[in-house]
Amino acid sequence: MDEWREFAGNVLGMQAVANNPDGVTRFRLDERSYRLEFEEGDTEELTRIGWEVPNAAGLDDVIARLEDDGLKVTRCSAEEAAARDVQGLAQTVDNSGFNLDFFYGQQKSVEPFISPRSASFVTDGMGLGHVVLMTPVFDDALRFYTDVLGFRLSDTMRLGPARVAFLRCNPRHHSVALIEAPEKGIHHFMVEVSEVDMVGRAHDACRDGGAGIMMDLGRHSNDEMFSFYARTPSGFGLEYGHGGVLVDDSTWTVTEIAGPSLWGHRGSMV
Ligand SMILES: [Fe+2]
Repeated sequence: MDEWREFAGNVLGMQAVANNPDGVTRFRLDERSYRLEFEEGDTEELTRIGWEVPNAAGLDDVIARLEDDGLKVTRCSAEEAAARDVQGLAQTVDNSGFNLDFFYGQQKSVEPFISPRSASFVTDGMGLGHVVLMTPVFDDALRFYTDVLGFRLSDTMRLGPARVAFLRCNPRHHSVALIEAPEKGIHHFMVEVSEVDMVGRAHDACRDGGAGIMMDLGRHSNDEMFSFYARTPSGFGLEYGHGGVLVDDSTWTVTEIAGPSLWGHRGSMV
């Protein structure tokens, strides 16, 4: 947890929340009371993914969709929701085995977001960033995100023999991507900053000893993100980027991308 505090704050520029519930450390990226939560535990893994819906009716709708698809859904109590700073919360486990939280009404802070590295994060209307997941049930995971949750396919790719699908639920090119893999796990998550120099400064902070670099600076071919990948204290990747495209649903067409990057991103995620 100390390493995450150092990495998230002093390398990435996230703001540690002062008063955390027992056993967790939260970080702000914007006006929300927090966007990331770290739990003390024995394993280094993604605990859960939070998906925001607009309101109570939206939560009822997603619960109905999940139950129609045969998933068991837990409707959390008002107290459980309040402990997470949200008005409504429901939880399920998807067919890949990932814990998914669906919520609405997150607390908005009245205190300004103050980054320890003067970073500002691109989140407005587009959430935290994106998460890339490895799944052993690729076809079913793709069906789940599109048919059940209503995500839209942005494009596809192959990494060697493995299929990759990029999915969006707002103008961000992808909020989740799925990689066909033997076992489930998190590949990386991404946060986007508002200026290119913030990427360079975070890259310097890693090079100066803040964290290892898994893949060096480069620009992705599909979302055009200028980014690099740091190794988080938990071992998986963190993409830190700027300049991702915004998708216009009325004109976007799905393509199969020949490779992940236009240039750069040299290195390895393992
Ligand atoms: Fe990414």
